[in-house]
Amino acid sequence: APSLKIGIAGLGTVGAGVVRMLARRKDEIAARIGRPIEVVAVSARDRNRNRDCDLSGVAWFDSAEELAASPDIDVFVELIGGHEGAAKAAVEAAIAAGHDVVTANKALLAHHGMTLAKMAEAKGVGIDFEAGVAGGIPVIKALREALLGNEIARVSGILNGTCNYILTRMQEEGLSFDICLDQAQQLGYAEADPTFDVDGFDTAHKLALLAALAFGVQPDPDAIHVEGIRTITLADLEAADELGYRVKLLGVAARSGEAVELRVHPTMVPKHWPIAQVSSVTNAVAIDGDAVALTLVGPGAGGDATASAVVGDLCDRAAGRAGTPFGWRVDALRPAGKPTIQRH
Ligand code: NDP
Ligand code: HSE
Repeated sequence: APSLKIGIAGLGTVGAGVVRMLARRKDEIAARIGRPIEVVAVSARDRNRNRDCDLSGVAWFDSAEELAASPDIDVFVELIGGHEGAAKAAVEAAIAAGHDVVTANKALLAHHGMTLAKMAEAKGVGIDFEAGVAGGIPVIKALREALLGNEIARVSGILNGTCNYILTRMQEEGLSFDICLDQAQQLGYAEADPTFDVDGFDTAHKLALLAALAFGVQPDPDAIHVEGIRTITLADLEAADELGYRVKLLGVAARSGEAVELRVHPTMVPKHWPIAQVSSVTNAVAIDGDAVALTLVGPGAGGDATASAVVGDLCDRAAGRAGTPFGWRVDALRPAGKPTIQRH
């Protein structure tokens, strides 16, 4: 069978990780799916930067948008980030050109998911974003496919690796917030603008996508009450410890009558609860279905973990498996409403 030809825009922590993983797993992926996945074109800002991956024979585009529209690709992989600017323009160009899209960009989909899903539906193309929520944990596939028989009451958990890394190291080692954030950035966990991590917006973006999948509400960051971890001090963590608690930044989406309650905030969790033991960059997502209740735990950020989810989506596309982005017909998604908790 002909190869699945992909173009990747963004060759940072995740993008270069995807190129390396596809090279490393090339033969086995081809053998399992029956066709190879081939990186034919890439785009990033700096043509001369060493990316520690083999790009010989791969076309270089200075413009992500031009790559996205190229007739030489089947799937456009967006790994630039940001909900405006180059990423949005490139994804729109890819859909307009009739290409399936695979992305790790939760900010883009949380803000513009409905518009992009409508465009994709009209063009008969897919948008896959397993990497966008909880890194390497296959929670999108769980909600979109495996758990469809369930009525879901609640989806909640630790959805941001950077915050959990910071809180864990502050709690366990007494290190300062700034040192921990700096290390999370060095390790490639943080967003380009880490404000999104520490102020809770990244968790909110992910929660908006989980709520769409679980409850059929349109992704809408404005429907979520958001508090981050920036103001948490070592003294706060010590006090919580003395009382028998760990502090975790949680995202919670819970059915509340006809409405869905959506909130992100630091939470005191009893030390003996399993979620209190989830440390470092690890994420945990608890799904309460009426038939199946489970918790998925795994690496929430980092190049390899996130590349794993991107490559999984690409394998789905290569094998011809496709679904609607949020697991519902686009016109079945209803508005999410306003936050039920007010900021104070
Ligand atoms: P990086 O900052 O490491 O990489 C971003 C890449 O985008 C760089 O290669 C950069 O080019 C390129 N880029 C920036 N602007 C443009 C442009 N206008 N045209 C083409 N390329 C451009 O980010 P990450 O790899 O960490 O993140 C990528 C995406 O994955 C984001 O949406 C992020 O939220 C998401 N994500 C990240 C995870 C992680 O652990 N890091 C986990 C899950 C999701 P150059 O290298 O030349 O500067
Ligand atoms: N900055 C994000 C995090 C990347 O720390 O969880 C994974 O989405």
